[in-house]
Amino acid sequence: MTHFPLPQEVMLRTALRNGREVAIRQVRPEDKQLFIDGHAELSPEDRYLRFFQHMPSLDDKLLKQLTELDHVEREAVGALDISKSNPKPIGVARYVAKQSNSDTAEFALTVASDYQGEGLGKLLLKVLADRAVANGFKYLSGLVLPQNTKMSKMLSKYEGVTKELIDKNLEFTIPLPLTGRVRGFSQRTGTVGTAA
Ligand SMILES: CC(C)(COP(=O)(O)OP(=O)(O)OC[C@H]1O[C@@H](n2cnc3c(N)ncnc32)[C@H](O)[C@@H]1OP(=O)(O)O)[C@@H](O)C(=O)NCCC(=O)NCCS
Repeated sequence: MTHFPLPQEVMLRTALRNGREVAIRQVRPEDKQLFIDGHAELSPEDRYLRFFQHMPSLDDKLLKQLTELDHVEREAVGALDISKSNPKPIGVARYVAKQSNSDTAEFALTVASDYQGEGLGKLLLKVLADRAVANGFKYLSGLVLPQNTKMSKMLSKYEGVTKELIDKNLEFTIPLPLTGRVRGFSQRTGTVGTAA
């Protein structure tokens, strides 16, 4: 149990498989430095898998896009490791409406390289999907590089998912609300909404 003050407006607090305590909350404009710090800790390969190009740093325009959201057509949730006195950014999931009035939101997901494989990716996607449902979306779609086996494996497990090849990349479309055979899904993510 952490003794440090919790970040404000926590949507979900839980422990990862490795026992680290995390808090998930909506992203806000003042989070730009957290994004810079989180990006700096990502491996070059993970940055490429997320942005589809070499991305040594995030410029001001992109930082604005990532943090200045209307929370309906553009939403993002971020995870902080709260086991430390200075909460550390360890993952983020975001969506943007495909077009105005579309029932589909395009999502992207990143987990800090040192925190992968602990269930955080699934957790973030579930919290984001719940926000998309609350905002009236019926599908989440995500573009994935063909070499990104982790992400492809993860997304293939959701019920009703479809996959299409677009310009050599894979576009996954998942119906909402999320359901699926992802290990630990119901236990871990069924508690979303019981914000601590
Ligand atoms: C893809 C990514 C988000 C997954 O996050 P994560 O926290 O590692 O994922 P989880 O621990 O929640 O695992 C989710 C599923 O991913 C798959 N997975 C995770 N680690 C894996 C590995 N080493 N090998 C193969 N599949 C793996 C599994 O299907 C797993 O489900 P399971 O636990 O039921 O077996 C993360 O690896 C990442 O940020 N990668 C770099 C950025 C990126 O690729 N973003 C996606 C493009 S938008």
